[in-house]
Amino acid sequence: MQITINNKQYEANVGDRLLDIARANHEHIGYFCGGNALCQTCYVKVLEGGELLSPLNEEETAFLSDNLVKEGTRMACQATVEKEGTLKMVSAVEEVKRMFENEPLQLAGYAAKMGWEALVKVPDTLLIQSKRELDLFEVISDVISGIGDAFQLIVRAFQSSCCCSTESCTCEAKKG
Ligand code: FES
Repeated sequence: MQITINNKQYEANVGDRLLDIARANHEHIGYFCGGNALCQTCYVKVLEGGELLSPLNEEETAFLSDNLVKEGTRMACQATVEKEGTLKMVSAVEEVKRMFENEPLQLAGYAAKMGWEALVKVPDTLLIQSKRELDLFEVISDVISGIGDAFQLIVRAFQSSCCCSTESCTCEAKKG
């Protein structure tokens, strides 16, 4: 099946976790806690095909406010593909990047909104975290793996943009 993440198309299978699809394709997504439902950086907005995903689980219900759910927000480390079809989504970190590049004045409003949506869920978030039994070693391994992937992403972004300073560069960024 097809999945579009941040305007780029990839192949995915039923059973895949959204975070794993994004990471396997080196797509821009947050996962500071390595997919352990701790950091809240993996939020994605599902633009199409939300019905193809697993229902909100306990972690998502605890973390995501009603407003975020209405907007189609999911936690990529918790949501999995359950049915074939076409899925489109944009990651929260990509949204922020685009805002920074195109409408920087909106960043303060966005940060305030996300802060508020997190604040209203603090009691639920604390409750669920207090009930969880985390394997600390596994969490640390996931975080280290996440940092490694993030580093690779930065190197790739640097490699794809550094040719713009040369005469021979013909990429779109330079033409614009
Ligand atoms: S909450 Fe950290 S990756 Fe999902």
